[in-house]
Amino acid sequence: MTDIVESAEVSTLLDELTRLTGREDPYPRYRRLREISPIVRADDGALVVTRHADCVAVTRDPRLGHMPSHMLEFVQPGWADHPALHQLFTSILAINPPDHTRLRRLVSSSFTARRVQALQPRIAEMVQDLLVRMDGDVDFIDAFAFPLPVNVIGELLGVPEADRAQFQGLVRDWTQVLEVITPEVLATADPAAATIREYLAGLAAERRREPGDDLMSALVAAEEDGDKLTEDELLTMAALLFAAGFETTTNLLANSVVALLRNPDQLELLRRQPGLAASAVEELLRYDTPVQLLARVAWEDVEIAGVPVQGGERFVAYLGAGNRDPERFADPDRLDLARPDNAPLSFGGGIHYCLGAPLARLEAQIAIPALLAHFPKLTLAGEPGRRDSLAIRGYTQLPISVG
Ligand code: HEM
Repeated sequence: MTDIVESAEVSTLLDELTRLTGREDPYPRYRRLREISPIVRADDGALVVTRHADCVAVTRDPRLGHMPSHMLEFVQPGWADHPALHQLFTSILAINPPDHTRLRRLVSSSFTARRVQALQPRIAEMVQDLLVRMDGDVDFIDAFAFPLPVNVIGELLGVPEADRAQFQGLVRDWTQVLEVITPEVLATADPAAATIREYLAGLAAERRREPGDDLMSALVAAEEDGDKLTEDELLTMAALLFAAGFETTTNLLANSVVALLRNPDQLELLRRQPGLAASAVEELLRYDTPVQLLARVAWEDVEIAGVPVQGGERFVAYLGAGNRDPERFADPDRLDLARPDNAPLSFGGGIHYCLGAPLARLEAQIAIPALLAHFPKLTLAGEPGRRDSLAIRGYTQLPISVG
C-alpha cells in the first residue's frame, strides 16, 4: 500500500525546485521524489505526483479540476481585482465545465486545424527569413526562438508586426503568476496584464469595425447556437492565445537546441534524417518540457497513486517528472529522437489538453531541421541563462555560434 510521504527530505527536495540552482536540473530531484513515494505532501499542503500514470490520472479524472471561485477566494483573497489573476483565472485554462465546455467550443470553431495547417508555407518562409539574418555569435532567443512563434501567433491573431516585440517582456511579467504569487510578483504582473488587455481591446474594436481573415476577427464573430463570447471573455481568450502562442513555443525551441547541442549524436542523426522531425519533436518535448507542472483540486473523494484522497485536496502533477518515469519510458534520461511510442505528457491531457499543440508541433517540426540544415557548424557559444521559473521551463539567454 502506498503512503503519502511527508518528510524533511521531501520538503528539502521541493524547496530546492523553487531555487535557481535546483531548477537548473530538476530531473534528479524528481527521480528521488518518485523513489520516496509516488505521492508526497508539500509544505503548503498540496499533494505532489511524479509518476507518468498518476500525472495522466490527475489531468484526466473528471473528479479533479480547477478551484471553484469560493475556494479561489479563500486561497487568494481579492484575486478578481488583480488584472493578472483575473486574466488567468477566468481563462479556459483555469475554469471548469460547463463554462469551460462553452468557451472551448467557441474558440475551437475559430482556431481550427485547417487554420493551423494553412500556416505551413508561411512558417517555412518566416524560418528562412530568420535563418538568413543569423551570422557569427547570436543569442538564439532574440534571433530565433522568440521572433518565430511571436510572429506566427501575431500573424494568426492579426497583431501588426511592429507591435509584437513589446509583448516578450509583458507576457513574461504577466505569466510570473503561474509561479508563486507574492505581492512583488503582482506589482509587476498586474500592469503587464492590463497593458496586454488594453492593446487587445483596441485590436478587437478595429476588427469589429473592419473584419479581416485573422483569428481575432473570427473570435469577434464566433457564434455557436446563438451563443457568443462576451467582450471580457474575448479579451481574456485573445490574451491567453497570444501569450501561450509564443511563451511556451519559444522555450520548446530553445530547450530543444540546448538538448541537441549537448547530445551531438542525436543532432547528427536529425541532420542526416530530417524525416525524423515529427518523432524528434515529441522526444524533445518529453526530454525537457516547457511546462513542467500543472495544478488541480479534487472535487470529491478520489483514489490517486493507489491512495484514497479526500475531496478538497490540492494536487500538483509534475509533467516533467512523468515524462522521465522509467515505468513508461525505457532509459528515460537518454535523448533518443527515434524512440518508439514516445508521446509525451507535455501538452497535458483531458478537457484542458493544449489547444495550440498542433501549432507548436508544426513550428518546431519545420524550424528545428531547417536550423540544423542551415548551420552545419552550430555550437553553444557560452552558458545558457536559465529563466528563474519552474512551471515554465526555459532560458532567457542562449548564446550560440552559427559559424
Ligand atoms: C510547446 C508549446 C506548448 C506547450 C508545452 C503547451 C502546454 C500546455 C499545457 C500543459 C496545457 C494544459 C494546462 C492544464 O491542463 O492545466 C496547455 C493548455 C493550453 N494551451 Fe498550450 N502549450 C504550448 C503551446 C501552445 C500554443 C502555441 C497555444 C496557442 C496558440 C497554446 C494554447 C493553449 C490553450 C488555449 C490552453 C488551454 C486549453 C484549455 O484549458 O482548454 N499552447 N498548453
